[in-house]
Amino acid sequence: VDRIRVLVAGVGGRMGRLVAETVRAAPDLLLVGGVDPAYAGADLGEKVLGQRSGMRVDGDVSSAITRCSPQVMVDFTAPDAVMGNLRGAIARKVACVVGTTGLEEGALEELARLCTEQATPAIVAPNFSVGACLMMRFAAEAATRFEYAQITEFHHAGKKDAPSGTALATAERMSAARAADMQAPQPERLALEGVMGGQVGGIGVHAARMDGVVADQRVVLGGPGETLTIEHRTTSRECFMPGVLLAVRHVFEQEGLVLGLGKLLV
Ligand SMILES: NC(=O)c1ccc[n+]([C@@H]2O[C@H](COP(=O)([O-])OP(=O)(O)OC[C@H]3O[C@@H](n4cnc5c(N)ncnc54)[C@H](O)[C@@H]3O)[C@@H](O)[C@H]2O)c1
Repeated sequence: VDRIRVLVAGVGGRMGRLVAETVRAAPDLLLVGGVDPAYAGADLGEKVLGQRSGMRVDGDVSSAITRCSPQVMVDFTAPDAVMGNLRGAIARKVACVVGTTGLEEGALEELARLCTEQATPAIVAPNFSVGACLMMRFAAEAATRFEYAQITEFHHAGKKDAPSGTALATAERMSAARAADMQAPQPERLALEGVMGGQVGGIGVHAARMDGVVADQRVVLGGPGETLTIEHRTTSRECFMPGVLLAVRHVFEQEGLVLGLGKLLV
C-alpha cells in the first residue's frame, strides 16, 4: 500500500519538529514537506531533524502543497496562523490534523463549513495525549456527581494562550454534562485581583506558566465530606505522538470536522 503523504505546518516549532521526526520514522507515512515562515528556504533535515534531507522548508502552505502534494497536513503553529493554513489546505482538499490551540471565536464554525463544502475531513484536538483525553472523559463523568469543581493547568513559560485549550475543553465538557452550573461561591473580600481565576459554568479555571513543566492539569471536584482529584502530567512531548499518528491514519475515515480524539479512542 502507498504511504500517506504528510506535510507538517509549524515544522520548526517544539511540536512540529517532533511530529516531523515521528512521521519520518513511521513505516506507513511519508514526510513530504514542512512549512514554517521562520525557517523558509532552510533544509528541512538540517534545521529540523538534525541531518540533511534535501527537502526545503516552505514559507507558506499553498506553495508547499503545490510542491509536495500532501494528503494530510498536521498543524502545530499559533492562534493567529492556523486558520490561514487550514483555509489553504482544505481549499486544496488536503485533510487536516490540528493541534494548535487558542483558535479565535467562530473559527471552528468556519472550519466545519469549509470541511463540508470541500468534502474534506479535519480533526481538531486540544490535546493528543491519551491520558489527557481520558482525564477529560473522567472529569465529564464525575461532573454530574459533584457541586464544586476547579481546574488548574500548568504549562511551560513559552505557551502563547491561556487558559490551555485542554483546560477550556475540560470545563466545557464538564459543564455540558450537567443540567445546572457548578456552585461558585465568591468571597466577600478579594485582596488580590484575579485570585479566583476564570469561570466556565461555575467551574473555576486557573492557569500557571513556568519553566520545568510541559503541560499538566488537575481537576478537583468537591461535595459533602469528600473531594476527587483527577490529575494528568506530561513528562515529555512524546505523549502527544501516538494521538497525532492515530489522527493522521484515520482522518480519511471521518466526515467533516471532528473535535477531539475521543471518537477514535474507543
Ligand atoms: N493539541 C495538543 O496536543 C498540543 C500539544 C502541545 C502544544 N499544542 C499547541 O500547538 C501549538 C504549537 O506549540 P509549540 O510549543 O510547538 O509552539 P512553537 O512556538 O514552538 O512553534 C510554532 C511554530 O509555528 C511556526 N509558524 C508560525 N506561523 C506559521 C504559519 N503560518 N505556517 C507554518 N508555521 C508557522 C512558528 O515559526 C514556530 O516555529 C500551540 O498552539 C500549542 O498550544 C497542542
